[in-house]
Amino acid sequence: MRHTLRSWVATFVALLLTFGASATTYSILPAPTSIRPSEGIFRLTHKTPIRIEKGLENPAERFIEDVAPIVSLKAPRIHAKHADGIHLALDATLHAEGYRMQITPQAIHIAGGSEAGVYYALQSLRQLIVQHRTAIPCCEVEDQPNFAYRGAHMDVVRHFFTVEEVKCYLDILAAHKLNRLHWHLTDDQGWRIEIKRYPELTEHASKRNETLIGHCLRSTTYDGIPYGPYFFTQEEIRDIVRYAAERYITIIPEIEMPSHAQAALHALPWLGCEEQQVEVWTHWGVSPEVMCGGKETTYEFLENVLTEVIELFPSEYIHIGGDECPKERWEACEHCQARIRELGLKDESETRTAENQLQSYLTGRIERFLAKHGRRIIGWDDILAGGVSPEATVMSWQGSKGGIYAAKHGNLAIMTPMDYCYFDFYQTKSQEGEGLAIGGWVSFEKVYGWNPYEGLTADERSYIYGLQCNLWSEYITSFDHLQRMLLPRLAALSEVQWATDRRNPATIRARMEQMRRLYELYGWSYAPYYFEGRE
Ligand code: ACM
Ligand code: ZN
Repeated sequence: MRHTLRSWVATFVALLLTFGASATTYSILPAPTSIRPSEGIFRLTHKTPIRIEKGLENPAERFIEDVAPIVSLKAPRIHAKHADGIHLALDATLHAEGYRMQITPQAIHIAGGSEAGVYYALQSLRQLIVQHRTAIPCCEVEDQPNFAYRGAHMDVVRHFFTVEEVKCYLDILAAHKLNRLHWHLTDDQGWRIEIKRYPELTEHASKRNETLIGHCLRSTTYDGIPYGPYFFTQEEIRDIVRYAAERYITIIPEIEMPSHAQAALHALPWLGCEEQQVEVWTHWGVSPEVMCGGKETTYEFLENVLTEVIELFPSEYIHIGGDECPKERWEACEHCQARIRELGLKDESETRTAENQLQSYLTGRIERFLAKHGRRIIGWDDILAGGVSPEATVMSWQGSKGGIYAAKHGNLAIMTPMDYCYFDFYQTKSQEGEGLAIGGWVSFEKVYGWNPYEGLTADERSYIYGLQCNLWSEYITSFDHLQRMLLPRLAALSEVQWATDRRNPATIRARMEQMRRLYELYGWSYAPYYFEGRE
């Protein structure tokens, strides 16, 4: 008995040392499926050739750019027969975003299930290069993601970020193997996307007279400083979409409807129920000014806007918002009430009111319009209140219950529950030194310990399409601050997104020290709290 126990403990310790040592010698985050250490060192020099299969130019070129601060590599060569160097190839037997990477003293062989898989292998290799510089210890890595949808959200409405800043944000997402940017482009406080059919939107709704100082629940003081005009031209959007695609990131634009639309109502008052003049909102929170759900002109407007949006964004998914839609204007509106009567909508329960069903009617019409163009919708979980079609994908933000409900009813869900995924929340309990945030508490450790499958059976798990952090910018006025809200929490989230069941808490601190070196190498700002041991 004693012997058995002793040998068991010895085995356990040996395993711990092997895994611990390999995971920190080979510091890759998010954790790969497996790393097998082997003997020897691969020496990277400026002469190391990159030998590729035709079609893998893009991942090779991105890698050359990414490692330029450490080593200057030459352009990739196609069909080279030589054995040395870094070899990139495709292997259709692998998971589409997965890869295999063998590092030997003679060569590095990478095979990806697709271009994206090759790109992710090169992200892992970059991390090893940041860690070991030009003397990379040999190993074999196998890897593939857990979730298909690995997103981060960016709000360019409440505060605006430039084309270069959006590109930097994309660089940061790519370094963590994310593949979706949810781009929040319209809201009460601004309209930030050029729509050629309605020049009034960018002319009048891309600026506000002033901005609230302090927290929206406690302050009624404004700064008196006009904000804007700030928006992205269609040409800039095409440039950003291309830049994202080169990093295997799909941009999902969000055009809020019928709520969070006060800026649009300022530019085009006929979008509202009463058609009275409203300002572009200077406060934060939930505005009662929403688009009229009764008038046909609202639907024409939305279809015209979306016609231009889908020209700009190849994403299969378009986010139609739908959150926080107060119904007091609709309750008092003759057009909305006439539409409710025409559709025969009745109050059925506390949530399934006639007005909530009118919102579902609007969502459904837009969903069918987009479907005709081969697109699908994502909406915030608020759209569940009046009922949704089976094809709608639900973004669960008010906790996980909306996503769980969706998954149990056969709808795809993207989990972004506030308690784990709202990166506009405070990062420490004490809030010391953090500056103003919206509230809440989402520490690195909390994100890392999150079980996104909680409350779901094994069958229902397959309806969780993916996970995302949301980063609203009411209280974030600079790109430096935005990065400090994103990093390092994004690293914790990325391991949940990519490696849910094989998270490696034993080595996370050591691996985060390497991520910190990577952030510093590229000049990305990050919050210090996790590294200071403050939660
Ligand atoms: C949200 O945070 N209102 C989706
Ligand atoms: Zn109305």
